[in-house]
Amino acid sequence: MQTEHERIDIRPVAIKESILLQLTYNDGRATTTKNISPDGMKVMELLSSGYANFTIDTTEGSMSIRITKSGDAQVHFATQSLEQNLVHDKKKERLLDPSDPFLLEVGIADHKGQIKPSKNDKYKQVEEFLRLLVPALNSAIEAGQISKPSHEKPLSIVDLGCGHAYLTFAAHQYLRSIGMPVHVTGIDIRPASRDRNNAIAKSLGIADTITFTAEEIANASTQSADVAIALHACDTATDDAIAWAVNGGATLLLVAPCCHHDIQKQMDQSPEPWGAITKFGVMKERMGDLLTDALRAQILRIIGYRVEIIEFIGGEHTPRNIMIRAVKTGAQSDSLDIDRYREITTQWGIVPALSKKIPTFTIR
Ligand SMILES: C[S@@+](CC[C@H](N)C(=O)[O-])C[C@H]1O[C@@H](n2cnc3c(N)ncnc32)[C@H](O)[C@@H]1O
Repeated sequence: MQTEHERIDIRPVAIKESILLQLTYNDGRATTTKNISPDGMKVMELLSSGYANFTIDTTEGSMSIRITKSGDAQVHFATQSLEQNLVHDKKKERLLDPSDPFLLEVGIADHKGQIKPSKNDKYKQVEEFLRLLVPALNSAIEAGQISKPSHEKPLSIVDLGCGHAYLTFAAHQYLRSIGMPVHVTGIDIRPASRDRNNAIAKSLGIADTITFTAEEIANASTQSADVAIALHACDTATDDAIAWAVNGGATLLLVAPCCHHDIQKQMDQSPEPWGAITKFGVMKERMGDLLTDALRAQILRIIGYRVEIIEFIGGEHTPRNIMIRAVKTGAQSDSLDIDRYREITTQWGIVPALSKKIPTFTIR
């Protein structure tokens, strides 16, 4: 079923001495909040509107319910002591402590533990990236798609095109802070990045669990991981990152693409009536971006990944704010997806770079 919103959070809030229910709707692009009286809440309507995952937090623990494709409910209860918070304008909880020494070392925070204004956008991008990584990771672990990380077998994450490794270190530090054993690898073509990042890891005393290499993604010595991430890997380096993840069997994949040139360069002649859009340079460029990411998503769906395309952060922090989040389910490809892929590539006369980088993808 297709739900109207990707996610809805419901919590009790105290407003003017009465308890209301605050509903926060997220459609993957924007969040809207409504406070309503519990009497006006159509619980059963919401529960039966097609959601596959439910989490219910009480002061005594958390219950999670997962509805499988066959319609069965998998129920899990974890006892823990949680505190009720009825404040209605709760500030977004920070995931990364601005005074964590890694932020100083990578150059995001200053010596007073404050985020440098020039790095604020990067800090926010990294936080929002983690906000989307963690629930997807927890559901993949709960669903048995990724085995529960242990000290003997930590979760493996590879950051492709890691650059100054803001995201790489952040993922390592945050996951460790929530008690998840993890090994993180950062790959970047530039030897200077590798040397700088390995030196930082050493100075933070975490070099055993985070390592950096200087190599091209397509020829990387590390060949697989549970989770592949990439933030703004340039142009077809994003395709290399996706192909690396798929070819190595990564279960979870989160990539926020950067500039898109590959398809744009191939868009010599637009099929009609799309000329109405592509005759304007700026719109042709956006159309190229959309085609690139839509075809990446289509390829992933055809080879057995469940795919979401999300605006992971507001456009004021970066114009490159689309994320492709994909989980390997092994589901059979849908003939509609294959037909759409063929139609789009034939009509436009384009061959996506990604299609040539995955040997198991044979649709032409
Ligand atoms: C725009 S930067 C983003 C860096 C980092 N992920 C961030 O968000 O701050 C892109 C990075 O990808 C690296 N890169 C580009 N093509 C690559 C390739 N084929 N293999 C490995 N790294 C690549 C570049 O050296 C650069 O550091």
